[in-house]
Amino acid sequence: MRPYKEKDVTSWQIWDIDPGVQLFMPEPANKVLSVEEELEYLNGCQREEDAIYWSVVWRETDLLIGSISLTDINEHHGIADLGIVIGEKDYWGRGVATEAIKILLEFLPQLKLRRITAELEEGNDGLIKALERNSFKKECVCEASRIKNGKPINTIRYVRFI
Ligand SMILES: CC(C)(COP(=O)(O)OP(=O)(O)OC[C@H]1O[C@@H](n2cnc3c(N)ncnc32)[C@H](O)[C@@H]1OP(=O)(O)O)[C@@H](O)C(=O)NCCC(=O)NCCS
Repeated sequence: MRPYKEKDVTSWQIWDIDPGVQLFMPEPANKVLSVEEELEYLNGCQREEDAIYWSVVWRETDLLIGSISLTDINEHHGIADLGIVIGEKDYWGRGVATEAIKILLEFLPQLKLRRITAELEEGNDGLIKALERNSFKKECVCEASRIKNGKPINTIRYVRFI
Protein backbone atom coordinates (compact mmCIF):
# COMPACT_ATOMS: atom_id res chain seq x y z
CA MET A 1 0.00 0.00 0.00
CA ARG A 2 1.30 3.47 -0.88
CA PRO A 3 -0.07 7.04 -1.37
CA TYR A 4 -1.78 7.90 -4.67
CA LYS A 5 0.51 8.84 -7.56
CA GLU A 6 -0.29 10.96 -10.60
CA LYS A 7 0.17 7.97 -12.90
CA ASP A 8 -2.70 6.17 -11.08
CA VAL A 9 -5.28 8.26 -12.97
CA THR A 10 -5.32 6.01 -16.05
CA SER A 11 -6.37 3.00 -13.97
CA TRP A 12 -9.06 5.03 -12.19
CA GLN A 13 -10.44 6.18 -15.58
CA ILE A 14 -11.01 2.52 -16.45
CA TRP A 15 -12.35 1.42 -13.03
CA ASP A 16 -14.83 4.33 -12.90
CA ILE A 17 -16.70 3.06 -15.95
CA ASP A 18 -16.24 -0.69 -15.53
CA PRO A 19 -19.74 -2.08 -14.81
CA GLY A 20 -18.28 -5.06 -12.90
CA VAL A 21 -16.22 -2.86 -10.62
CA GLN A 22 -19.07 -0.37 -10.16
CA LEU A 23 -21.81 -2.97 -9.50
CA PHE A 24 -21.86 -2.43 -5.73
CA MET A 25 -20.23 1.01 -5.61
CA PRO A 26 -22.19 4.12 -4.61
CA GLU A 27 -23.42 6.27 -7.47
CA PRO A 28 -22.65 8.61 -9.16
CA ALA A 29 -19.41 7.10 -10.44
CA ASN A 30 -19.75 5.39 -13.81
CA LYS A 31 -18.93 8.44 -15.88
CA VAL A 32 -15.88 9.14 -17.96
CA LEU A 33 -13.54 11.69 -16.41
CA SER A 34 -10.72 13.46 -18.24
CA VAL A 35 -7.17 13.01 -16.97
CA GLU A 36 -7.38 16.48 -15.40
CA GLU A 37 -10.71 15.75 -13.67
CA GLU A 38 -9.47 12.41 -12.41
CA LEU A 39 -6.26 14.00 -11.14
CA GLU A 40 -8.27 16.70 -9.38
CA TYR A 41 -10.40 13.98 -7.76
CA LEU A 42 -7.36 11.99 -6.56
CA ASN A 43 -5.56 15.13 -5.34
CA GLY A 44 -8.76 16.20 -3.56
CA CYS A 45 -8.82 12.85 -1.75
CA GLN A 46 -5.21 13.31 -0.63
CA ARG A 47 -5.99 16.82 0.65
CA GLU A 48 -8.90 15.70 2.86
CA GLU A 49 -7.94 16.33 6.45
CA ASP A 50 -10.15 13.63 7.93
CA ALA A 51 -9.28 10.83 5.51
CA ILE A 52 -6.37 8.67 4.38
CA TYR A 53 -6.25 7.02 0.99
CA TRP A 54 -3.78 4.40 -0.19
CA SER A 55 -3.22 2.77 -3.56
CA VAL A 56 -3.05 -1.00 -3.37
CA VAL A 57 -0.30 -2.50 -5.51
CA TRP A 58 0.64 -6.11 -6.25
CA ARG A 59 3.78 -6.57 -4.21
CA GLU A 60 5.86 -8.54 -6.75
CA THR A 61 5.23 -6.25 -9.75
CA ASP A 62 4.23 -2.91 -8.20
CA LEU A 63 1.16 -2.98 -10.48
CA LEU A 64 -1.67 -0.73 -9.27
CA ILE A 65 -4.69 -2.92 -8.57
CA GLY A 66 -6.92 -0.93 -6.25
CA SER A 67 -7.40 1.50 -3.41
CA ILE A 68 -8.31 1.40 0.26
CA SER A 69 -9.31 4.31 2.45
CA LEU A 70 -10.30 5.47 5.87
CA THR A 71 -12.68 8.40 5.65
CA ASP A 72 -14.66 10.52 8.11
CA ILE A 73 -11.91 9.96 10.66
CA ASN A 74 -12.93 11.53 13.95
CA GLU A 75 -10.36 11.02 16.69
CA HIS A 76 -12.59 12.64 19.32
CA HIS A 77 -15.20 9.94 18.88
CA GLY A 78 -12.62 7.38 17.74
CA ILE A 79 -14.51 6.47 14.57
CA ALA A 80 -13.77 6.10 10.85
CA ASP A 81 -15.24 4.46 7.74
CA LEU A 82 -13.38 1.94 5.63
CA GLY A 83 -13.70 1.87 1.84
CA ILE A 84 -12.04 -0.42 -0.67
CA VAL A 85 -12.00 -1.05 -4.39
CA ILE A 86 -9.92 -3.65 -6.16
CA GLY A 87 -10.30 -2.28 -9.68
CA GLU A 88 -8.26 -4.92 -11.52
CA LYS A 89 -10.75 -7.79 -11.76
CA ASP A 90 -8.04 -10.35 -12.65
CA TYR A 91 -6.89 -9.93 -9.04
CA TRP A 92 -10.27 -10.64 -7.43
CA GLY A 93 -10.46 -13.72 -5.28
CA ARG A 94 -6.73 -13.76 -4.54
CA GLY A 95 -7.04 -12.47 -1.01
CA VAL A 96 -6.03 -8.89 -1.87
CA ALA A 97 -8.93 -7.15 -0.09
CA THR A 98 -8.54 -9.42 2.93
CA GLU A 99 -4.84 -8.59 3.19
CA ALA A 100 -5.25 -4.86 2.49
CA ILE A 101 -7.83 -4.58 5.30
CA LYS A 102 -5.48 -6.50 7.62
CA ILE A 103 -2.59 -4.12 6.82
CA LEU A 104 -4.86 -1.11 7.37
CA LEU A 105 -5.90 -2.48 10.76
CA GLU A 106 -2.22 -2.88 11.69
CA PHE A 107 -1.69 0.81 10.87
CA LEU A 108 -4.55 1.90 13.11
CA PRO A 109 -2.67 2.17 16.43
CA GLN A 110 -1.16 5.35 14.96
CA LEU A 111 -4.63 6.89 15.12
CA LYS A 112 -6.92 7.25 18.09
CA LEU A 113 -9.68 5.04 16.76
CA ARG A 114 -11.85 2.46 18.44
CA ARG A 115 -14.68 1.80 15.97
CA ILE A 116 -14.24 1.16 12.22
CA THR A 117 -17.33 0.81 10.05
CA ALA A 118 -17.81 -0.38 6.49
CA GLU A 119 -21.07 0.11 4.60
CA LEU A 120 -21.83 -2.11 1.67
CA GLU A 121 -24.63 -2.99 -0.67
CA GLU A 122 -26.56 -6.25 -0.31
CA GLY A 123 -24.98 -8.94 -2.50
CA ASN A 124 -21.39 -7.77 -2.17
CA ASP A 125 -20.41 -11.17 -0.83
CA GLY A 126 -16.69 -10.79 -1.63
CA LEU A 127 -16.41 -7.76 0.61
CA ILE A 128 -18.45 -9.44 3.35
CA LYS A 129 -15.97 -12.35 3.38
CA ALA A 130 -12.95 -10.02 3.45
CA LEU A 131 -14.47 -8.06 6.36
CA GLU A 132 -15.52 -11.12 8.34
CA ARG A 133 -12.03 -12.60 7.90
CA ASN A 134 -10.80 -9.45 9.62
CA SER A 135 -13.24 -9.86 12.53
CA PHE A 136 -15.79 -7.30 11.35
CA LYS A 137 -19.34 -8.12 12.49
CA LYS A 138 -22.64 -7.22 10.87
CA GLU A 139 -24.11 -4.32 12.81
CA CYS A 140 -27.34 -3.42 11.04
CA VAL A 141 -29.23 -2.97 7.83
CA CYS A 142 -29.53 0.68 6.84
CA GLU A 143 -32.88 0.81 5.16
CA ALA A 144 -33.20 2.72 1.88
CA SER A 145 -29.92 4.46 2.56
CA ARG A 146 -28.74 4.74 -1.04
CA ILE A 147 -30.26 5.46 -4.43
CA LYS A 148 -29.30 2.95 -7.10
CA ASN A 149 -30.64 3.06 -10.64
CA GLY A 150 -33.27 5.53 -9.46
CA LYS A 151 -34.52 3.44 -6.54
CA PRO A 152 -33.75 3.42 -2.80
CA ILE A 153 -31.76 0.35 -1.73
CA ASN A 154 -30.61 -1.02 1.62
CA THR A 155 -27.00 -1.08 2.72
CA ILE A 156 -25.47 -3.26 5.43
CA ARG A 157 -23.13 -1.81 8.03
CA TYR A 158 -20.23 -3.86 9.37
CA VAL A 159 -18.25 -2.81 12.40
CA ARG A 160 -14.98 -3.74 14.06
CA PHE A 161 -13.97 -2.46 17.47
CA ILE A 162 -10.24 -1.96 17.94
C1 LIG B 1 -15.34 -6.72 -3.10
C2 LIG B 1 -13.84 -6.72 -3.35
C3 LIG B 1 -13.20 -5.59 -2.57
C4 LIG B 1 -13.26 -8.07 -2.92
O1 LIG B 1 -11.87 -8.04 -3.20
P1 LIG B 1 -10.99 -9.36 -3.36
O2 LIG B 1 -9.57 -8.97 -3.38
O3 LIG B 1 -11.53 -10.18 -4.47
O4 LIG B 1 -11.32 -10.07 -2.00
P2 LIG B 1 -10.62 -11.37 -1.41
O5 LIG B 1 -9.85 -12.10 -2.47
O6 LIG B 1 -9.94 -10.98 -0.18
O7 LIG B 1 -11.94 -12.18 -1.24
C5 LIG B 1 -12.57 -12.59 -0.13
C6 LIG B 1 -13.43 -13.77 -0.56
O8 LIG B 1 -14.57 -13.37 -1.31
C7 LIG B 1 -14.63 -14.04 -2.56
N1 LIG B 1 -15.14 -13.13 -3.55
C8 LIG B 1 -14.49 -12.11 -4.15
N2 LIG B 1 -15.33 -11.49 -5.00
C9 LIG B 1 -16.51 -12.15 -4.92
C10 LIG B 1 -17.78 -11.98 -5.56
N3 LIG B 1 -17.98 -11.01 -6.47
N4 LIG B 1 -18.78 -12.79 -5.22
C11 LIG B 1 -18.61 -13.78 -4.32
N5 LIG B 1 -17.42 -14.00 -3.69
C12 LIG B 1 -16.40 -13.18 -3.99
C13 LIG B 1 -13.21 -14.47 -2.84
O9 LIG B 1 -13.16 -15.55 -3.75
C14 LIG B 1 -12.74 -14.81 -1.45
O10 LIG B 1 -13.26 -16.03 -1.02
P3 LIG B 1 -12.41 -17.38 -1.04
O11 LIG B 1 -11.10 -17.04 -0.41
O12 LIG B 1 -13.26 -18.31 -0.25
O13 LIG B 1 -12.25 -17.73 -2.49
C15 LIG B 1 -13.55 -6.57 -4.87
O14 LIG B 1 -14.27 -7.54 -5.57
C16 LIG B 1 -13.93 -5.20 -5.39
O15 LIG B 1 -13.19 -4.24 -5.24
N6 LIG B 1 -15.10 -5.08 -6.05
C17 LIG B 1 -15.50 -3.85 -6.69
C18 LIG B 1 -15.60 -2.65 -5.79
C19 LIG B 1 -16.44 -2.86 -4.57
O16 LIG B 1 -17.49 -3.49 -4.63
N7 LIG B 1 -15.98 -2.28 -3.49
C20 LIG B 1 -16.71 -2.23 -2.25
C21 LIG B 1 -17.69 -1.14 -2.32
S1 LIG B 1 -18.29 -0.74 -0.73
